[in-house]
Amino acid sequence: MSIFSLLRSWWKEFFSSPAAAGPTLRTWAQKKNIDIGVAVTAHHLRANESYRTIVAQEFTMITPENALKMGPLLPTVGTYDFREADEVLAFAKKHNQSVRGHTLVWHQQLPAWLPLETFSVIEAQHVLDDHITKVVKRYAGQIGYWDVVNEAVADDGALRDTPWLRSIGVSYITNAFQVAHAADPQAKLFYNDYGGEGMNKKSDAIYVLVRDLLRDKVPLHGIGLQMHLRPYEVPIEEIAHNIRRLAALGLEIHITELDLRLALPATSRDQEQQAQYFEDIFQLAIAEPACRAIVLWGVSDATSWIPGYFSGYGEALVFDEQYRPKAAHRRLVEL
Ligand code: G3I
Repeated sequence: MSIFSLLRSWWKEFFSSPAAAGPTLRTWAQKKNIDIGVAVTAHHLRANESYRTIVAQEFTMITPENALKMGPLLPTVGTYDFREADEVLAFAKKHNQSVRGHTLVWHQQLPAWLPLETFSVIEAQHVLDDHITKVVKRYAGQIGYWDVVNEAVADDGALRDTPWLRSIGVSYITNAFQVAHAADPQAKLFYNDYGGEGMNKKSDAIYVLVRDLLRDKVPLHGIGLQMHLRPYEVPIEEIAHNIRRLAALGLEIHITELDLRLALPATSRDQEQQAQYFEDIFQLAIAEPACRAIVLWGVSDATSWIPGYFSGYGEALVFDEQYRPKAAHRRLVEL
């Protein structure tokens, strides 16, 4: 590569994206001493320059959106495929970003070939222990935070009926944290869930679950509040109350999957409300010392999971489909 083309690609990488024009979330977060993260895919990092530039410039933390889940990691019997996750981690390293690992134990995105239902308790336990140990050890020193158990509580507050609960029993939760801790004693271990942001049956059940884990000296360090919400779906005071009771247990709090979906077509009033709710959530996070990270679930409206799952909804993030910063972004960087 000639020096000219090297300079040109460097220039393009850092200055030609729409995101590069103004103040960034990254500089904002550094000022406020909090991490600002984003869920990414290796595919988009590879294929899309605007996406890549935004991730590099706007965020201090990244998390693979899917690549560290058991299904994508173990596509065929006994053979791990770490390529996607490695690619995301290499990007993080290059851009001096911390990494949240998502997620070790979940009931979705399990390997299609894994016949958990037919396993004895001992076999299922072995599969899970082996998986957690392999993955956490591989990334020890690179992944500082793990969502160890994801979405183990149902909306009514009962333990969710999952293949893990059915095959192992309730001890799968405690055990997962212990095995992850043994694999990397430095990593901070999180319980992560949705729908328990405010005060309700589910957040009460999550509170009791994590309180009891701590009482039993289980190595649990933090709690992830996903926050896939509609603007003002949950009153901000309720979220504040919940965050404070969790913080009082000594837990670190991360907002792990923030997006605020709008019914389409969105009006300018909807967009204004969305910007305000984003601002309220960010204000809340920086006001609470236990809250150490805010992670957006996707880079731009062009790559968000929302339209594929919530028919008629979208525009949930702070960069639009053309990767331009939206009103919410402009507000946030000025907080
Ligand atoms: O990669 C395969 C591709 O090979 C295949 O051809 C295609 C056909 O459907 O599917 C592709 O996999 C999809 C994968 O995303 C990668 O794009 C899966 O079908 C799809 O189900 C999967 O969706 C992910 C979803 O979790 C799975 O439940 C979303 O991207 C991801 O954003 C979402 O993230 C979850 C968090 O992990 C936990 N909290 C809720 C959040 C939103 O559901």
